[in-house]
This record gives sequence, structure tokens and C-alpha cells, in this order.
Amino acid sequence: MASEKRWSTLILLLVVMASASLVMASSSCSSIFSFGDSLADTGNLYFSNQQPSHHCLFPPYGETYFHHPSGRCSDGRLIIDFIAEALGIQMVKPYLGIKNGVLKDMSVKEGVNFAVMGATALDISFFEERGVHSVTTNYSFGVQLNWFKELLPHICNSSKTCHEVLGKSLFLVGEIGGNDFNYPLHIRQSITKLKEYVPHVINAITLAINELIDLGARTLMVPGNFPLGCSAVHLTTYETTDKNQYDSFGCLKWLNEFSEFYNQKLQHEIHRLRVIHPHANIIYADYYNAALPLYRYPKKYGFTGLKVCCGIGSPYNYNASNMCGKPGVPACDDPSQYITWDGVHFTEAAYRLIANGLIKGPYSVPQLSNLCFMNVSYGYGYGHFNS
Ligand SMILES: *[C@@H]1O[C@H](CO)[C@@H](O)[C@H](O)[C@H]1NC(C)=O
Ligand SMILES: *[C@@H]1O[C@H](CO)[C@@H](O)[C@H](O)[C@H]1NC(C)=O
Ligand SMILES: *[C@@H]1O[C@H](CO)[C@@H](O)[C@H](O)[C@H]1NC(C)=O
Ligand SMILES: *[C@@H]1O[C@H](CO)[C@@H](O)[C@H](O)[C@H]1NC(C)=O
Repeated sequence: MASEKRWSTLILLLVVMASASLVMASSSCSSIFSFGDSLADTGNLYFSNQQPSHHCLFPPYGETYFHHPSGRCSDGRLIIDFIAEALGIQMVKPYLGIKNGVLKDMSVKEGVNFAVMGATALDISFFEERGVHSVTTNYSFGVQLNWFKELLPHICNSSKTCHEVLGKSLFLVGEIGGNDFNYPLHIRQSITKLKEYVPHVINAITLAINELIDLGARTLMVPGNFPLGCSAVHLTTYETTDKNQYDSFGCLKWLNEFSEFYNQKLQHEIHRLRVIHPHANIIYADYYNAALPLYRYPKKYGFTGLKVCCGIGSPYNYNASNMCGKPGVPACDDPSQYITWDGVHFTEAAYRLIANGLIKGPYSVPQLSNLCFMNVSYGYGYGHFNS
């Protein structure tokens, strides 16, 4: 009896191992489908014609790589651009550019980006009901998911072909949800309230993951939140003479603790989803710990610290009513010496390090490069993350 049980345990183990390697071997990530907010928007707000005056659409945005505003909220490329490069595929085109016929001759099979600046995981009504009236975009995660479903017949026509095509794609499920806390934080809603929003945000992400997997997605990367307490926008809103509120690197302790709280809950949910969907690879992207070393040891990476490159005012070069992109707001000479570009978004230099930490470093679990066969020639000093 005992030995029979041992045999069946061993066989079970082998079956589990075989199916695990099968899941890994079957993904190749030949395209990217992306959902999210301004951390990943590669031109959707620009092509939406909804907010032509958005500050991210004016110089000096885009100055570093594109040499003109590119519809991205940074001086240059974003995490999604570096992941595409590492996969050896072209930059992911914005859905609204394709839909409005501006970007022509596009095969949507090469991947599509649905992320929009300012987007929230939850719909606007959730925030209106809770006294947050500052949510300005109408492109929540739910809206982006509907765009994907509308586009699907142009990608594949049967459940079988959809599973084939989508099974070979990398789905970036966010970062989404950061703005669900940024808007309430901006009007100084309490952490107690924010913690009440957490299960709602995670539920929205869960529903989307379930739906994407049902449609055929097999490899999904779900990022957590950045260290909000190190962000110039929040450091300015919550500036205080009470030194106890800051850690030894100048970040707001209570706010970073909130980011960690959210990330813990998200990871817990991802564990649960992995059990429900054993044939999918659900990667947790640890944006928090990928970014933290930049704030803690800025000199090591050639950065100056918490100050904003493009901005003016406050000890951090940040003023919410006078942001980068507005007339007369100056930018630093060398954005590669700054972590933060405009006080809310990172510089290309920081995004590159964070992307490397996900692609080759320890900050994607399970590791992205093991699941997606990254272009081996890729490498921009990701060794930074070895220490
Ligand atoms: C790998 O990336 C390099 C640098 O971006 C690029 O020149 C090369 O064509 C890529 N190789 C493949 C096989 O995609
Ligand atoms: C937001 O989107 C919804 C659904 O697409 C639409 O019904 C509504 O009119 C939009 N609201 C605004 C302010 O654009
Ligand atoms: C799916 O079918 C429609 C209608 O027959 C066709 O127009 C479309 O090109 C097909 N899409 C794909 C991806 O094969
Ligand atoms: C922020 O900018 C606005 C608009 O230019 C200005 O009125 C205000 O004084 C600035 N606030 C700070 C703290 O610099």
C-alpha cells in the first residue's frame, strides 16, 4: 500500500512537472496585447482627440528618443517599448490610431496597445459615487477590454484559431489600478478609504484576467504598484515638517506601506488565479521592488534623486497646476540623470532599468525571459540588478 502510494505520488509529480514544462515551452510571445494607463500609453490618448490639450502631448515630451511628442508620458520610451525590443518585435501600436485609420497597413496580429493616459481599473461611476470627481478619462479597463473584444474578429475567427494566436502573445495586464489611488490621494482621501477600494480594483483585474484566459491568452504579466511614497506628485501634496513620516531616502513611509499592502493583496490573488488556470502563465511584475533601488541608491545609477527633470516649484520641481509640457515650464539638460521625468512618470533612463529588472532581473515571477524566449542580443547593463 505504502509503496503504491509513493509510486502514484511520483507519477503525479512527473505529470505535474511535464505539464509545467509544456506550458513554458508553448509560449513564444510573438506579439503583445497591452492594457493600462499612462505608464503604457503609446498614443491612444493622442489619437482619441478627446484631450488635445493634455500636457503629455506637448514638447519637451518625447525629446530623448523620438525627438518630438510621441503620445507617451515620458521623455522617451516606456517599459512596454523595451519589452517589445527584447522580444524582437516592433513597438506596439495604439488601438485608436488603427481604429481611426491613421496607422495603416497594420496587421493587428502583431499586437495592439489599449492603454490610455489617466485610465483607472474601475469605471468613473465608482469614483463619482465616492466623492472623487477628478477622474478625467473615460477609458477604464472595462472600456479597453471591450475594444479588445471588438477587435478580436480581425485577429482570429474561431475559438481554435483565437487560442492559437492569443496563446502566442504576451498580455500586459497593466499597470492598471495606480490611478484608482492617485485620484483619491490627490484630494487627500484617507488611507482607510483607499484600502476599501483595493478589493474592488483587484476584482476588476481578476475579471479581466479570467476573460482574457477564456479567450485564449496563456502568458499574462500583471504589474503591481510603484512606490507611491517616492513619487514627486504625492511628496508635494503631502509635504510635511514631520520627519518621522519619511524614510531615510526621503520617501513617505505610510504611502509606500500602502503600495506594499496593495501589492500583497494582488500577489495573493495571482496565486489563487494560477491554481484556477494551471495552463496559463500568470507573471507578477514587481514594479515596486524594481523601482525602489533607483530611489534608494540614485548615485549608483547616475541619478540625482527625487527631484523632477521637467517641472517647476516645490522642493521637488513639481507643481500640479504647472506641469511639464505647459508653456514656460523648464526641463533639465540631461533627463538620463533623473529618475522622474515630470513628477508622475519616469524618465526613459529609469524605465529602461526597470524594464531590464523585469526582463533579465529578478522582478518578474516567473521570469519573463524564461517564458518568452527574449532576444538574446538584448542587454543594457541589467547587471545593475545583480547586486
Ligand atoms: C534582437 O534585438 C536587436 C537589437 O534591438 C535587433 O537588432 C535584432 O534584429 C533582434 N533580433 C531578432 C532575432 O529579433
Ligand atoms: C464614456 O463612455 C461611455 C461608454 O463608452 C459613454 O456612454 C459615455 O457617453 C462616455 N462619456 C464621456 C464623458 O465621454
Ligand atoms: C474573419 O471573418 C470575416 C468575415 O468572414 C473576415 O472579414 C475577416 O477578415 C476574418 N478575420 C480573420 C482574422 O480571418
Ligand atoms: C503653482 O503654479 C500655479 C500656476 O502657475 C501658481 O499660481 C502657484 O503659485 C504655484 N504654486 C507653487 C507652490 O509654486
